[in-house]
Amino acid sequence: MAIELRDLHKSFLVSGRTRPVLRGLNLTLREGEITAVVGRSGCGKTTLLRILAGLEPWDAGEIAAPAGVRMGMVFQEARLMPWLNVRANIAFSGRNGRMAPERVQELITRVGLSGYGGAYPAQLSGGMRQRVSLARALAYEPDWLLMDEPFSALDYFTRADMQKELLEIQRAERRGILLVTHNLDEALFLADQVVLLQDGRVAQACDLRMWQKPRDPVSREAAAWKRKLLDCMEETR
Ligand SMILES: Nc1ncnc2c1ncn2[C@@H]1O[C@H](COP(=O)(O)OP(=O)(O)OP(=O)(O)O)[C@@H](O)[C@H]1O
Ligand SMILES: [Mg+2]
Repeated sequence: MAIELRDLHKSFLVSGRTRPVLRGLNLTLREGEITAVVGRSGCGKTTLLRILAGLEPWDAGEIAAPAGVRMGMVFQEARLMPWLNVRANIAFSGRNGRMAPERVQELITRVGLSGYGGAYPAQLSGGMRQRVSLARALAYEPDWLLMDEPFSALDYFTRADMQKELLEIQRAERRGILLVTHNLDEALFLADQVVLLQDGRVAQACDLRMWQKPRDPVSREAAAWKRKLLDCMEETR
């Protein structure tokens, strides 16, 4: 179920002035692939995700997506319900607001939070809250996961674990993933295509499909791909 964005335009009205954010954005999100979106702060990455999640209207252009496609969002900040514990926050996103307790437990384990099912968001660290947010998005059983810098608050090791988990979500569950990240190494390790957003458009799209996964981030091959990606990004600076 590919998603096609064609000539997408979006402006915001700020202090009586129209400020364009997306200015003719074209992008294909191929089924079952990981697309990483990079770009400077304020270039419109979150806006793009919010439009795809149905949280923000767009002004002009077209989004061609299969009917009934399910989008799961992992927000830039975790946005959990503070009055619900971890288990209830996750279960709330299940179909009809319910989920089997075993399935909830499975998701808690997957994001490395065994033993914290009864904890409330205020009792968790920022990185733990981000992981609950990922489990909650998975509870929704989405066709696409839209992730806005989901691992920014994680330490090196937990981040590496979560990246492996994402690859498993892609491989075993065949979900497509749109991942906003500021970390080029993360994009290199995970993505099938890396897209650079600039001036409201896709300035570059680098195809990494030829590099097989799982990828070794410190191999000679990795260095060559990183060079290729940097060259690709440099062209538009
Ligand atoms: N609701 C809104 N009202 C007005 N302007 C907005 C709104 N949301 C976003 N913007 C503006 O749109 C632009 C893009 O914002 P967006 O949050 O998409 O950036 P971003 O690429 O996600 O940045 P960051 O990397 O800092 O998260 C910014 O100039 C921002 O001020
Ligand atoms: Mg953002």
